[in-house]
Amino acid sequence: MITARSFGTTADGAPVTCFHLENSSGAWAEVLDYGAILRGVAVPDRTGRLRDVCLGFDTAKEYQEKHQGYLGALVGRCANRIRDARFTLDGRTYTLAANERNNHLHGGVRGFDQYVWDHSVEGDTVVFSRTSPNGEEGYPGTLKVRVSYTLTEDNALRLVVEGESDADTVINLTSHAYWNLNGHGAGDVGSHTLCIDAIAFTELASDNCPNGTIASVVGSPFDLRTARPLEEGWDADHPQIRQGGGYDHNWAIRGTGLRRAAVLAAPESGITLSLSTTQPGLQVYSGNFLPVMTGKGDAHYGPRRGVALEAQGFPNAVNQPGFPSVVLRPGERYHQEIIFAFGLD
Ligand code: GLA
Repeated sequence: MITARSFGTTADGAPVTCFHLENSSGAWAEVLDYGAILRGVAVPDRTGRLRDVCLGFDTAKEYQEKHQGYLGALVGRCANRIRDARFTLDGRTYTLAANERNNHLHGGVRGFDQYVWDHSVEGDTVVFSRTSPNGEEGYPGTLKVRVSYTLTEDNALRLVVEGESDADTVINLTSHAYWNLNGHGAGDVGSHTLCIDAIAFTELASDNCPNGTIASVVGSPFDLRTARPLEEGWDADHPQIRQGGGYDHNWAIRGTGLRRAAVLAAPESGITLSLSTTQPGLQVYSGNFLPVMTGKGDAHYGPRRGVALEAQGFPNAVNQPGFPSVVLRPGERYHQEIIFAFGLD
């Protein structure tokens, strides 16, 4: 069942709507047409009590003012970093908006997370769409994007992200939701265990873009083929962990097509989150620099109080010929799926 309510207005007066998706067991998710943001997901813990496990804010104004953390946002046109905010496509060089020192991050100064999208409800699915004009943040091509959210009867939240362009461009859409499976605001996520189905990750250079090496995880804090607590890895004495201030890296997920990429689990609540995706990579950001701030219901947020599992194309892929392509050509359809399936251990 889906119900809609007003979520106030943006600073320039545009109305924002919150959609509440609920299944017959009472589990729910909430999404906003502002930024196609996922602002909450409540699922039962092992005692049957619902816990909201997704970080978010109570007002549109806070999403605008505290957008640096990208809480719950649908990020685009190109998630993650593009080195020196520049790329060459078909012999032409494009300059993008630089918003993290020299780099372009998560779509630029005004990314997809800062627009009110069009919305519609189609059965049990909420659909957000927008047209990103040619030249927006420096990107070529008019890009039409569509994001759908569906909550299933078995407590899985399914996202489908799609795009079509009238000219050659790049696209990399992901959800930047932060999870705390003990409940948003329930302290840090160090005791959460994380398992990732990957034998390699992309190493960071000093500007936090990949240095081009797809390195083996074996014998490092990046080997999460067997579940390990986040706190075991995020303070490890390893140059790549120091570079990211914890985990802020992209893993190369094994296989292709829709497959399981990662499982996050919280021993205290018993809640588990299994992530499946068609995307080639998974950026795990352990909230290392998440600002200290007040979230929904006066919850305390801050560094490492949530972990983002961003299923996406590899960072800076447009400048790395060895990485899976993020180029979208006219006549092609970009289509990726991300499924957050909740359960109990
Ligand atoms: C991504 C990046 C991080 C950080 C967050 C947003 O996860 O990889 O470095 O920028 O987004 O704060």
